[in-house]
Amino acid sequence: MSALRVLVFLSLTAVCTSSQTSDCSYLSLLKHLSLTTTNEVLQIVRPVKNWTTSTLVQVDMLLYGILKVDEKSQTVTSHVWLYMSWRNEFLTWNSLEFCGIKTLTVPTSMLWIPDVSLQEDASDSGSIYKGPFAQVHQSGWVGATFRQRLTSTCQLTLKLFPFDQQKCNFTFGSMTADAKTITLRAFNNDSTLTTISEQFMITQGEWELRNMQVIMHNYTIGVSTQSKLVYMVTLVRRPMLYVINLIVPLFYLLVLDLASFFVSESRGEKLNFKVTILLSISVLLLILKDMLPSTEDRLPLIASYCVAIFALVGISVLEAMLVIFLTDLDSYCGKRAPRCDSVLLEIQEAGYDKEPAGAEETDQVTPEKPVPDGPAGRDLLKQILGEMKAARQEIIRQRKDRSEPGRYARVAEVVDHVFFVLYFITTVVFLTYMYMEWIHNYVIQYAD
Ligand SMILES: *[C@@H]1O[C@H](CO)[C@@H](O)[C@H](O)[C@H]1NC(C)=O
Ligand SMILES: *[C@@H]1O[C@H](CO)[C@@H](O)[C@H](O)[C@H]1NC(C)=O
Repeated sequence: MSALRVLVFLSLTAVCTSSQTSDCSYLSLLKHLSLTTTNEVLQIVRPVKNWTTSTLVQVDMLLYGILKVDEKSQTVTSHVWLYMSWRNEFLTWNSLEFCGIKTLTVPTSMLWIPDVSLQEDASDSGSIYKGPFAQVHQSGWVGATFRQRLTSTCQLTLKLFPFDQQKCNFTFGSMTADAKTITLRAFNNDSTLTTISEQFMITQGEWELRNMQVIMHNYTIGVSTQSKLVYMVTLVRRPMLYVINLIVPLFYLLVLDLASFFVSESRGEKLNFKVTILLSISVLLLILKDMLPSTEDRLPLIASYCVAIFALVGISVLEAMLVIFLTDLDSYCGKRAPRCDSVLLEIQEAGYDKEPAGAEETDQVTPEKPVPDGPAGRDLLKQILGEMKAARQEIIRQRKDRSEPGRYARVAEVVDHVFFVLYFITTVVFLTYMYMEWIHNYVIQYAD
């Protein structure tokens, strides 16, 4: 009898509870989880029933965009989505008791959230956007999404610029908890992450996502060991802009400088041309200076390329100056050097031998011409004749100078030719070396 009474009582209570929870609203579930009022206990402490239990935090980072890579300050600005999930042991229920409710969405402000942050983050905290809601699963798993415009530091190796690829680390870890309390683990594996990120990537700019790799490791500082999750992102630069903007123009200017050796030497025009080329190169150098950081240990190849071309053109300008100087030296010597003086004297003597005869002839041929009277007129005529002779000799001398280059001019010509051959060989060797070096480093970079 008593057994029957107990049975009836039990069935009644069962009906009672089922009728109480047959209400299919979320409210009843919230009441069951005691989330209706601000339950501070759920917010401030790690939700485990036994404190020795560690909380496993599963993290997923998706790269949604690479906004900017700053070579000067060595930072990468990217747009990432972060998904984190962990278990809250107090937020569990049986979905059968609540009309099959399996997941519940609650404000993140009501829950404890692991303090996982990015180690390389160099941005101001204003750029973090926390999703307002978190999803709670009936087994107690809580999932929350964060969106962030990250400026993270990344050591950029620019040796091969602009054919470089960069490996940037995004290291996630808890700021306070050690590995025994919070353990980080990746949700998806490398290939899945890469595929998803490639699909969702909206802006990449000049960069292309090549690979994403996840590494989990325990990192020990002093006595505490922290669990870290490293996302190693490999980015490849699209080099076309820099090829068009820097490498090809520099090459072209070098070729122009080589070609200027075939321009005839006419009073510094060649020199002007070469100096213009030098100025153009220095403009390109300025552009380069704005792009690259001033790290001395690993000078980018493109910097060596630029500087070497600048130096080559600079030397060729100096050579053009030397040639002009030698040519000028010749005409200068034409007035002063004793050798030239003797030539001049010879010409003058030859002229004096002829001229008086010619003068007498003209005198005889035109006797009717009214001659200025007296010896004064004769003197005047002689004076005019002398001046005309001098003028003729000057013309002859100049012609001689022009048609037959002097000693220094010949030296200048030889210097010019020898220099051109050396210059050409140096240029070819330099360009070949540069090309080999670039290819060599490129292959090494892609191998690892
Ligand atoms: C990135 O992290 C990996 C794994 O911890 C490490 O081996 C590598 O040196 C790091 N790279 C940089 C640039 O810090
Ligand atoms: C890190 O340490 C935790 C706790 O000691 C351990 O459970 C985990 O397996 C370790 N992880 C790695 C990658 O060694």
